[in-house]
Amino acid sequence: MTRFADFHARSIHDRDAFWAEQAQRVDWKVPPQQICDYSHPPFAKWFVGGETNLCHNAVDRHLQDRAEQAALIFVSTETDQEKTYTYRELHAEVQRMAAILQDLGVVKGDRVLIYMPMIAEAAFAMLACVRLGAIHSVVFGGFASHSLASRIEDASPKVIISADAGSRGGKAVAYKPLLDEGIRLSAHKPDKVLMVDRHLVAFTPVAGRDVDYASARAQHMDTIVPCVWVESTHPSYTLYTSGTTGKPKGVQRDTGGYTVALASSIPLIYQSQPGDTFFCTSDIGWVVGHSYIIYAPLIGGMATIMYEGLPTRPDGGIWWSLVEKYKVNVMFSAPTAIRVLKKQDPALLSKYDLSSLKALFLAGEPLDEPTAKWISEGLNGKAIIDNYWQTETGWPILTICNGVEKAPSKFGSPGKAVYGYNVKLVDDQTGEELTGANQKGVLTIEGPLPPGNLQTIWRDDQRFVNTYWKTVPGKLVYSTFDWAVRDEDGYFFILGRTDDVINVAGHRLGTREIEESISSHPNIAEVAVVGVADQLKGQVAMAFAIVKDSSGLLDAASRLKLEGEVMKVVDSQLGAVARPSRVLFVSALPKTRSGKLLRRAIQAVAEGRDPGDLTTMDDPAALQQIVDLIQI
Ligand code: PRX
Repeated sequence: MTRFADFHARSIHDRDAFWAEQAQRVDWKVPPQQICDYSHPPFAKWFVGGETNLCHNAVDRHLQDRAEQAALIFVSTETDQEKTYTYRELHAEVQRMAAILQDLGVVKGDRVLIYMPMIAEAAFAMLACVRLGAIHSVVFGGFASHSLASRIEDASPKVIISADAGSRGGKAVAYKPLLDEGIRLSAHKPDKVLMVDRHLVAFTPVAGRDVDYASARAQHMDTIVPCVWVESTHPSYTLYTSGTTGKPKGVQRDTGGYTVALASSIPLIYQSQPGDTFFCTSDIGWVVGHSYIIYAPLIGGMATIMYEGLPTRPDGGIWWSLVEKYKVNVMFSAPTAIRVLKKQDPALLSKYDLSSLKALFLAGEPLDEPTAKWISEGLNGKAIIDNYWQTETGWPILTICNGVEKAPSKFGSPGKAVYGYNVKLVDDQTGEELTGANQKGVLTIEGPLPPGNLQTIWRDDQRFVNTYWKTVPGKLVYSTFDWAVRDEDGYFFILGRTDDVINVAGHRLGTREIEESISSHPNIAEVAVVGVADQLKGQVAMAFAIVKDSSGLLDAASRLKLEGEVMKVVDSQLGAVARPSRVLFVSALPKTRSGKLLRRAIQAVAEGRDPGDLTTMDDPAALQQIVDLIQI
């Protein structure tokens, strides 16, 4: 057995001893009494009886050894700001934010919704919440009012923290009107809204509800707010993600398990150590941002770069210039970003001193071979490591754990199952485990899910069980909803989702949500949204819609006008991130005789592929219309 195989086997077969060792990487106020309670599958409780605090582990405990070391490096090429916070300064800012939240009535267990751009205050907000034992729910800044409303309603936050605006490509993007509309649409109303005013877009505060952050902060420059010790199983945050239905799921994460999982990943997966600089280019609105912009690098005593801006502005060398300037050791990004950079002048890669960089990790979507090769050559053969994981898991399921044992990567494969994950490929029809090489099956994880994974869906245990654990016949296993194969060396290859989730530039979106939004246009009768392969973004959403009244749609110009209107509806309800690349009009949609939409067939023809077996299709002319439209 290789060292890694042995390490992995121990994490499964001697689970409690293994995780008890890993748990020593973090501080506990009260040590755990039981490592894993799996007496009520599929609900796993990690480090039961232990008391800890995520903010303490990310910030306070470093004050002793590294108070003057950089903790958070905020860089905005949007507003031309750059500011480094040492651990001491970060500690002070987090306490100020926590004191404000306390003034606003936030106590342990309360929810706080964070709708903010990539600014340092967003990091203070997240850390302040977990400091108090409050449960944060960050909503991606690219989402709009309807996305906000459903999350506000489900999380029912006491306080919302937001800002006047984000900025993209040098242009301010107002947040406040979207937030006000989101609150208006939601049945739940927050008591208070804490506004960070960047002075990018003027706004009118709502009297009695909106509180100005700068003034509130000035009242608390020296306030001390101790960490609230919470049970290991106390939720640290919820993060909404898309699935098959239109209603996003609130992925609920614990405190102790998450802290331990992230702490272990820093040396074992990311091969980093205290004092290193970590640069993750994601956004705090996504799980990668939660885990690898904020929590893991700080738990690991590193400096973390929080970057607001495009990868190509002022030019395509901006990220590499930051690597040189801040001596970045580890970078974490998404394949889409690398594909964007690939279109830039290749000289930008050799312009900067990248000698500090040890590895580049990529996650969120399939890493195609040309992109992996290009960046690997561009970075002079530095390690390019693919990570496969999900919002639900919080940290990697598949990768190469070079910190346990160095192993070669294979192009197109994220690698092997990470320690703690008992990954099984199963036949989706029979539920049988597929143990042979190169057999296609659904990637599943046997319970208990390892520390750091979702505990449940916020306020909906039944949905957690039904969504993830009941899809494989005859077995209680967690489904990732991804197809995969494993080769003869045990390396997995991900082949795409089994459900209607699509992945646009690494952003996970539900086609149902987009369909619901499009259907709200007064002239849309029915619509099907599918993910279509795209060279740059991996996938884009494409919509095929039936109109109620087609009398005004006889010429191309009027169809284009309606297409623009539909896109605007999606922009204003869900955000531009969910906007379909095309909205094409048809008179019928391909369905089975029982009325089920044939999404796979639509997707296939939209990608110019053979749609396969169509014997169940009701009206072949409906699919032919799509074929004809695509060919235009
Ligand atoms: O389909 C898989 C794809 O993204 C999904 C999870 O997306 P999200 O919840 O946004 O979490 C991203 C965390 C990195 C997965 O079900 N996916 C993620 N990483 C990869 C991937 N597909 C192929 N290769 C990957 N490395």
